[in-house]
Amino acid sequence: MSVAKYFDEMSYGPAPEADSEARGWLARHEGKFGHFINGGFTPSQSGKSFDTFEPATGAVLAKLAIGSKADVDHAVAAARKAQGPWAKLPGHARARHLYALARMIQRHARLIAVVEAIDNGKPVRETRDIDIPLAARHFYHHAGWAQIQDTEFSDHIPVGVVGQIIPWNFPFLMLAWKVAPALALGNTVVLKPAEFTSLTALLFAELAAAAGLPAGVLNVVTGEGETGALLVDHGDVDKIAFTGSTEVGRLIRERTAGSGKSLTLELGGKSPFIVFDDADIDGAVEGVVDAIWFNQGQVCCAGSRLLVQEGIAPLFQERLLRRMSTLRVGQPLDKCIDMGAIVAPVQLSRIEALVKQGVAEGATLHQAQIEMPQGGSFYPPTLLSGVQSSSTVATEEIFGPVAVSMTFRTPDEAIQLANNSRYGLAASVWSETIGLALNVAAKLAAGVVWVNATNLFDAAVGFGGKRESGFGREGGREGAYEYLKPKAWQGRKPRAMPALPAAKPAAGEFGMPSLDRTAKLYVGGKQARPDGNYSRSIVSPKGKVLGEVGEGNRKDIRNAVAAAQAAAGWSSATAHNRAQILYYIAENLSSRADEFAARIAAMTGVSSGKAAAEVEASIERLFTYGAWADKYEGAVHVPPLRGVALAMPESLGVVGVLCPPEAPLLGFISLVAPLIAMGNRVVAVPSEAHPLAATDFYSILETSDVPAGVINIVTGSTDELGKALATHNDVDALWAFGTAELSAMVEKLSVGNLKRTFVDHGKATDWMNRAEAEGALYLRRAVDVKNIWIPYGE
Ligand code: NAI
Ligand code: MG
Repeated sequence: MSVAKYFDEMSYGPAPEADSEARGWLARHEGKFGHFINGGFTPSQSGKSFDTFEPATGAVLAKLAIGSKADVDHAVAAARKAQGPWAKLPGHARARHLYALARMIQRHARLIAVVEAIDNGKPVRETRDIDIPLAARHFYHHAGWAQIQDTEFSDHIPVGVVGQIIPWNFPFLMLAWKVAPALALGNTVVLKPAEFTSLTALLFAELAAAAGLPAGVLNVVTGEGETGALLVDHGDVDKIAFTGSTEVGRLIRERTAGSGKSLTLELGGKSPFIVFDDADIDGAVEGVVDAIWFNQGQVCCAGSRLLVQEGIAPLFQERLLRRMSTLRVGQPLDKCIDMGAIVAPVQLSRIEALVKQGVAEGATLHQAQIEMPQGGSFYPPTLLSGVQSSSTVATEEIFGPVAVSMTFRTPDEAIQLANNSRYGLAASVWSETIGLALNVAAKLAAGVVWVNATNLFDAAVGFGGKRESGFGREGGREGAYEYLKPKAWQGRKPRAMPALPAAKPAAGEFGMPSLDRTAKLYVGGKQARPDGNYSRSIVSPKGKVLGEVGEGNRKDIRNAVAAAQAAAGWSSATAHNRAQILYYIAENLSSRADEFAARIAAMTGVSSGKAAAEVEASIERLFTYGAWADKYEGAVHVPPLRGVALAMPESLGVVGVLCPPEAPLLGFISLVAPLIAMGNRVVAVPSEAHPLAATDFYSILETSDVPAGVINIVTGSTDELGKALATHNDVDALWAFGTAELSAMVEKLSVGNLKRTFVDHGKATDWMNRAEAEGALYLRRAVDVKNIWIPYGE
């Protein structure tokens, strides 16, 4: 063959990575693994096992133990025993351990990369260059948090024993994302890897023990969903951290509701990949390759929805199809391939079925006519063009190498299409116009946005979603807080609920009857009659009727939520503006301090001195959040690339607030003020027993330039109104302070749209105590951090 002909064909021969070490490791274990508990392998107490397969060939790789209740109990007990001593180690000692784990990963990078590629089916080029180095970086980064924990997180303590459940798409990297922060900050772990891909977790546990990690600090229990559920339900687990499908995420939210377990969920996505007509087209085409054909498209944040501006759509598609036809699908250990195998036959069938449905619903199918490997679970790179935004393939996560494409005309239409999803994990924006790209980035409902880039990750940059993509962040400072709890809340005692006193007959009072004072609801900046036209009497502890308030119902909540939604301008108001309004509210409250104090004393029976102190503290708290409004800021991360990632706190949107029964004014202010300071709009339900301080507050709001709809107040039954808020899909978050049952109900009913919840599990807060009741503890819950990656161009 002539040299010219070689050039023409440019065909690659296979360049296989050796797998002898990996096979040797499997052979040393005789192809059979128990759980890794308390520092060593332990056979399953049930004796049950399952096979794990090699996706590229279908061959059995090893037998793994199925974790039973006894196994999970054993692992949790080991983690519990180790947790105290592990947390008591000086941060520096834990930093040394994490550093040792990072070094260990680097020393065994080749072995881990090969085991991962064989077990998952992904290209070894990716495990070698991406998964394993990012995992090592995660341990280095978190060794650092352990080192400075005592100064940076001095007001927090570890959560305790953490159950972690991870998926199969990035088995080792997800382990690192979960285990590194948990251990760094003084927690111990029981990890349940995905049933398709447990091998690198077992390998890691073994190597970690050899690197000196104390027994019980990290335990691995293998098994399927049922084993995961046993961990979720375990009474001695303090937190569950889950990555996986939205369906299972919902289940976990429901099952942990009311348990007091802390929870983070990193779920699915249908992330938009937006290409404007002034984008660098070749760069964007290469971006698509990394967005949807990386890891066979089995990526939660895959750029799976291509939105291309109309004018360039034909050209873009032509170049994309040409590029698609040069991708190579092959054996995971062949270093020259672009795509390996799909993790399991069940996932392959799922992809095939969804693509079929896409075509049935009108999409045009484009598949690269490339050579496909025989046997195993392989699927070619695929594009479905001309999809309808409402079609199944445009809304459901396919979790395979399948991009769907649509066109748009204007930036507004792009944003609207991009945000037309129940998910909100990531997004990618391509434009050479910096102003356009950043303007769009700010408006996308996503936890991560990449500008002229895609699928960039770093341990210092938080990762996580909005909406049904879950809540919580992994990585960086935000991620560290997910494994900590506030010291100040440790002493909280179960709350004594105030009785709703019955009215006593006004015996022998022959004075002037007071004028009818029925407080209405406050919706959209106006006083509104309750829908049901019912009211309830508010009675003092001595039985005196102090007034009437409207009995709000589900319809009133709907109206209030609509008003709050319409007040979206508040979220884009300047922080300076929001601060001014908070100060103004404080000023107006101050001029009527005596009246509010008298009202509090009459409602609750506290002394006038205590009532006056509550009003004074409320004024001060408003000042606190006026102060924070323009100071609770983000960060500029400097990940290892030429560029920055802007970590920006964003408002959550519409937030429901179920105020505590006690401290009728200060409780209300302590929750509403941080929320509006951060740009949220609020629907608040005041103390059921003592709502009049909140209804008196309407006139303060009216004279303080608070825009209509920013604060809405609905009085009535906390349980009924709480239920209406928890099940409302346009409510983005719900804060509930009251009974333990209320917390449980709110968490359970929040699953519809996976709203963020902030509850006290029936523990009473001392609202006068600033350490417990104000500041960053509340501000952090009032925002989501969005990370906008901006690599520098040439
Ligand atoms: P999955 O959500 O069932 O599995 C993830 C993990 O959760 C595994 O370790 C599994 O054993 C565990 N699990 C399953 N049921 C559980 C339960 N009831 N309680 C506790 N743990 C449980 O995901 P699966 O079935 O492997 O994949 C199905 C679809 O989910 C995929 O096609 C994809 O659309 C989506 N998915 C999304 C992921 C992401 O990162 N966003 C990762 C994996 C799957
Ligand atoms: Mg496998």
